[in-house]
Order: sequence, then C-alpha cells, then structure tokens
Amino acid sequence: MENKQERREFLKKAIVLAGSSLCATCAPAFFSACEYIQEKPIPTMFDRVREHIVDLSLFPELSEIGGAISKSFGKPFAGRPVIIIRKAKETDDDFSVFSSICPHQGGEILLNDDKGKNHWCAEHYSEYEFFTGENLKPPDYEPDYKEPLVKLKYEYYPEENKLKFFY
Ligand code: FES
Repeated sequence: MENKQERREFLKKAIVLAGSSLCATCAPAFFSACEYIQEKPIPTMFDRVREHIVDLSLFPELSEIGGAISKSFGKPFAGRPVIIIRKAKETDDDFSVFSSICPHQGGEILLNDDKGKNHWCAEHYSEYEFFTGENLKPPDYEPDYKEPLVKLKYEYYPEENKLKFFY
C-alpha cells in the first residue's frame, strides 16, 4: 500500500518536472513567434502595389494636350483598359491615369467619340470630367451617387517618354 503511494508521488513529480521543462523549452519559441507577428504584420491586398510601364512613343496621341487612350495592358486589372489622358506638358503632373472600371458597379468607362468630351459609363450612363475624373452626372437611378473615377498614381520619365502607373 505504501509502495503504491510512493509510486503515485513519484509519478506526480515526474509529470510536473516534464511539464515545466517542456514549457522552458517552448516558451522562448512561442514568445519570439509573437514578436515576429508584431514586427512583421501579414501584408493585406492593399499593401501590394504593382506597377506597369507604358512606352508612350507607341501612342502619339498622348504627345498633345487633350490626347487620350483607353487600352488594355494585359495583366493590370485582369486585362480591363486603363485610361491615360495628356493634360499638360513639362509640369509635375502632365497626365491623368484612370481605371476604366466604373466606381459605381464596375461597368466599363468609355472615352467619348468626340475628342476632349467627358468619359461615360456604358452601364448606367454616369459621366466623368475628361481631365479630373470628377463625377458630373450620376447613374440613371441613383441621383446622389458622386464617386469620381479611380485615379492611379504614376511616374513619368520624359527623357525615355515612358510612364509607369501603379495599381
Ligand atoms: S456601373 Fe457605371 S454607372 Fe453604374
């Protein structure tokens, strides 16, 4: 009987000892993992910025103020067109670059056939200012909708006549 009691006590001590040595081994790894999570947050979709370079020498219409193209560049926006407008020359902001995906419900923004006239959406006929992308006419059935076109950041390299846009 006494022997059984001693064995129980021995097993208890052995379990406590094994548990505490396991904690001592794992704790540093656990806490350093926590540090890693704090220092390096997992990137979200919005942190991932991609870029695409356009050789403007292929688009002579963009050499003149008021020139515009709406073109698919393959990978960006899954092949949906990007709109590039020449709005000035030799300034810090010579271009406007817009996504052609309508901010309302994703319809396609089209360039007006009349050069320099506002862009419009083929889905619900909203209208956007040619240079700024400001919403001038809301969709047919939502008179309070005023979202502008999605403007993309860009960098222009005049010596190479190349434009890099970010998406
Ligand atoms: S999707 Fe463009 S106005 Fe509705």
